[in-house]
Amino acid sequence: MTTIFDPIKLGADTAANRAIMAPLTRGRATRDHVPTPIMVDYYAQRASAGLIISEATGISHQGLGWPYAPGLWSDEQVEAWKPVTQAVHDKGGLIVAQLWHMGRAVHSAVTGEQPVSSSATATPGDAHTYEGKKPYEVARPLAIDEIPGIIADYVKAAKNAIAAGFDGVQIHAANGYLIDQFLRDNSNFRDDIYGGSIENRVRLLREVTQAVVDAIGADRVSVRLSPNGDTQGVNDSNPEPLFAAAADVLNQIGIAFLELREPGPDGTFGATDVPRLSPLIRQHFKGPLVLNSDYGLGRAQADLASGLADAISFGRPFLANPDLVDRLREGAPLTQAQMATFYSQGAEGYTDYPTLAEKKAAA
Ligand SMILES: Cc1cc2nc3c(=O)[nH]c(=O)nc-3n(C[C@H](O)[C@H](O)[C@H](O)COP(=O)(O)O)c2cc1C
Repeated sequence: MTTIFDPIKLGADTAANRAIMAPLTRGRATRDHVPTPIMVDYYAQRASAGLIISEATGISHQGLGWPYAPGLWSDEQVEAWKPVTQAVHDKGGLIVAQLWHMGRAVHSAVTGEQPVSSSATATPGDAHTYEGKKPYEVARPLAIDEIPGIIADYVKAAKNAIAAGFDGVQIHAANGYLIDQFLRDNSNFRDDIYGGSIENRVRLLREVTQAVVDAIGADRVSVRLSPNGDTQGVNDSNPEPLFAAAADVLNQIGIAFLELREPGPDGTFGATDVPRLSPLIRQHFKGPLVLNSDYGLGRAQADLASGLADAISFGRPFLANPDLVDRLREGAPLTQAQMATFYSQGAEGYTDYPTLAEKKAAA
């Protein structure tokens, strides 16, 4: 029977185990979105994950509105990522870069320009900016002749990721950001070939994925989707056929793996009553399927054993337990992640979560 401790081939590389580190924005880069030395320590501490998916990383200035989040569009950013990927590799780990265009979820206070999206809509609530929280702004719909430029930004960032030593990339098509804003029908009201029918709403995902695959190879490209329920105000009236079609497209392109963030009704990060679509998506996407949200060891092992998942990604458990894989192996208790330091500056709540051995030594 497959367990979380078994290796798995994920495209070009083989992960030593099936406990994957989910992408986690931590806001420890510079104000110019350049990675910092403390990020080297943070990722190296977590290198025993089967694979690390990096925090969401901006493909362009336009697409990155999160204060102190890193980017991958400049040479300076590429150089600053190199020690991160090197440190993870030196410890025998693997790391891919999650590529991010936030679409309407940026704020002009951070990017200096009005947000762009599929249509003129706004994310509900407030954006994080350097001057505190500010209400999200209504986006400017992207003109159809701007879309090739967006795709080119994904391609450039993917090539930069490889140049920076990443083992591949993950296209962030989840959580209400740009690609998700095109996918779902409560945020996409376009009447051109990028809106309306399911085929049209999936088009941006397909074109971005295909272009990135053409640039760096399908075995180095994965995608993240969040198919069930509202996320940052983005939702769909009929998610089953939409996400089945998206899974078909990704299956046809032959990406390395597909990751789904699927909270349940008791989820602590976007709880929803909309049923999980993983059983349906499993029928459409034949490659490795990585499932996420609110997993502990028991449910992880059950979903691997039943064949629903090929691997499990853990977010907050990896945030607070750098040696998560060892702890799962030993059945050791897990440290709970502290929300107050999710996006704060410095080492506190970032690189100072102890391993089990450190905890024992200190006791
Ligand atoms: C602090 C924090 C930052 C996050 N940043 C990202 C991100 O950059 N990209 C992304 O796709 N999801 C992000 N997420 C969602 C996580 O990847 C994951 O889906 C969520 O935490 C649920 O998994 P868990 O129950 O294992 O923590 C973030 C979650 C948290 C708590």
